[in-house]
Amino acid sequence: MKELIRRAAEDLAAAGNVAALTGAGISVESGIPPFRGKGGLWERFDPMEFAHIDALMRDPVKVWKILVKKMKEPLDRAKPNDGHKGLAKLEAQGKLKTIITQNMDGLHQAAGNTDVIEYHGTFAWQRCMDCHKKYETRKVDISEIPPRCECGGILRPDIIFFDELIPAEAMWRSRQAATDCDLMLVVGTSAVVQPAAMIPVIAKDSGAKIVEINPERTPLTNKISDYLIMGGAGEVLNGIVAALEKI
Ligand code: APR
Repeated sequence: MKELIRRAAEDLAAAGNVAALTGAGISVESGIPPFRGKGGLWERFDPMEFAHIDALMRDPVKVWKILVKKMKEPLDRAKPNDGHKGLAKLEAQGKLKTIITQNMDGLHQAAGNTDVIEYHGTFAWQRCMDCHKKYETRKVDISEIPPRCECGGILRPDIIFFDELIPAEAMWRSRQAATDCDLMLVVGTSAVVQPAAMIPVIAKDSGAKIVEINPERTPLTNKISDYLIMGGAGEVLNGIVAALEKI
């Protein structure tokens, strides 16, 4: 791993425009469970029953119970970890330009990154399913679920449920960042959910080098990614930042 961390630092030093795609794995060390694999939310709950737009329309109370218990509470407690902080340092060093995240936890912004595309939306805001009025989650009383808008409509988190479209601006800006970058860090994603999993492919097709950071192999490994650094985001990104400072 040490050798690959040094190689990644050299590749970053040589790169002009760096982007990152992140997934749930980068927030595991902040106490937020991933969706798949060991301890994954979808190992215990069927995503089609709890994270599909039809499920929300059918039974908002059932979906809200999971959203609160399994997502909001861990999110409320979470703080940025060394993985998030490492990406913030890479931005501060003028290396990293844009983060495309599948995460809805706002931890990249909390760590200090300024250009974060929230590809799957954010839990920080709620939206009325009738009048579309938006509310800050921290100001919404969820002691009674589902929470309601002043118009009487049901509130839902401003995240992307399965079978919902990715917002046009997030799609467009992500495609731009992937096309423009000459190196993409792919951190903590299983790369099985589309269209997010296409983003490293777009970057690769545009000539970028793809560096994967994940304790496990993914469908990108050895096909799209140039190399995989098999380790936790915190330790690996800490190592890369330290090695980069020596170059
Ligand atoms: N550091 C880096 N990667 C890690 C760590 C860690 N400490 N711990 C786990 N991982 C890796 C796992 O090996 C796995 O490949 O993170 C990945 C997490 O994968 P998923 O749980 O599938 O998360 P993600 O790829 O973000 O899911 C995509 O699916 O359910 C939907 O909308 C949801 O945004 C989510 C999307």
